[in-house]
Amino acid sequence: MLTKTSTADAGALVLDQPKRSGAAPKAAVKPADETSSKTSGPKAKEVRIYIDGEFFAEGDAKVSVFDHGLLYGDGIFEGIRFYNGRVFRLDDHLDRLWDSARSICLEIPISRAEMTEALLETIRQNGLQEGYIRQIVTRGVGNLGLNPVQCKRPSVIIIATTIALYPKEVCEKGLTVVTCATRRTSPAALNPAVKSLNYLNNVMARIEANLAGADEALMLNEAGNVAECTADNVFIIKRGQIFTPPIAAGALRGITRSVVFEIAAELGLKITETDITRHDVFVSDECFLSGTAAEVIPVVKADGRMIGNGKPGSITMRMIGRFRELTRETGTPIFV
Ligand SMILES: Cc1ncc(COP(=O)(O)O)c(C=O)c1O
Repeated sequence: MLTKTSTADAGALVLDQPKRSGAAPKAAVKPADETSSKTSGPKAKEVRIYIDGEFFAEGDAKVSVFDHGLLYGDGIFEGIRFYNGRVFRLDDHLDRLWDSARSICLEIPISRAEMTEALLETIRQNGLQEGYIRQIVTRGVGNLGLNPVQCKRPSVIIIATTIALYPKEVCEKGLTVVTCATRRTSPAALNPAVKSLNYLNNVMARIEANLAGADEALMLNEAGNVAECTADNVFIIKRGQIFTPPIAAGALRGITRSVVFEIAAELGLKITETDITRHDVFVSDECFLSGTAAEVIPVVKADGRMIGNGKPGSITMRMIGRFRELTRETGTPIFV
């Protein structure tokens, strides 16, 4: 059963913005992006975080230091968006969560129906119509050894927040990317298809992008082909045809990626899954990224080379337009 234990007066969290430490924040943090600023419906008064069937204020939402999610990155997660009072592609995210769990032999301690209700109730408790959900299942509390046999019960954590991944002008003008030296984890080591809590590979790439002053990092696989960006799938367009790396190249099977495939089919455009090199990116007419947090976003510069004419291309803009329609018009209703 879902219970309410929160009393603190806190504001909505904002992803990718400096986080205050200590007690729960007293006022709502103003998000910088257009999506979150359109939040309507019940006022966001306090953050309520779901942990294993109970709701906590941010300052009281805690897990054990012996949780293997913390000690070893042993666990899985999903990032999910909700728009206009509906959760976008909820079933796909739950499918992927359960697939990740199965792959790492983790038994999610609640049923899919219970997970769905917990997720929707977390959004309701936070009074949000638009935002982002972080859904985490950790291996649970064990001892300092890494053997998961020690962990008797996985923990489920759900955070609903508003989101601001890139400033508005970056979304409009397009991103710059740099190729990073950090290679995407080989599927033979840790398959990127598992959305695990072990994201240090991506974090290292992100640090490289930061140091280079770029918005994102283009990650290559061990063969030197493009795998993906740190939290997004990559698409390029050449002479009206769209290309993207196959999952086997070391990309997450992105849910936004699959929406891009659907939109392309609707628009009568072909997407070919094929190995892509840096050169292919440099000489592409258009490039865009897809991801739940980033949505569909143009890339206009790669390693200092202007892509196309340096402005978001027409196919990319059509893709973004239809993507926005789908996010506003489809999804699992939250408040019924
Ligand atoms: C490494 C990585 N690649 C790609 C994506 C995009 O996937 P999705 O569209 O399902 O958010 C994500 C985000 O979840 C990611 O973390």
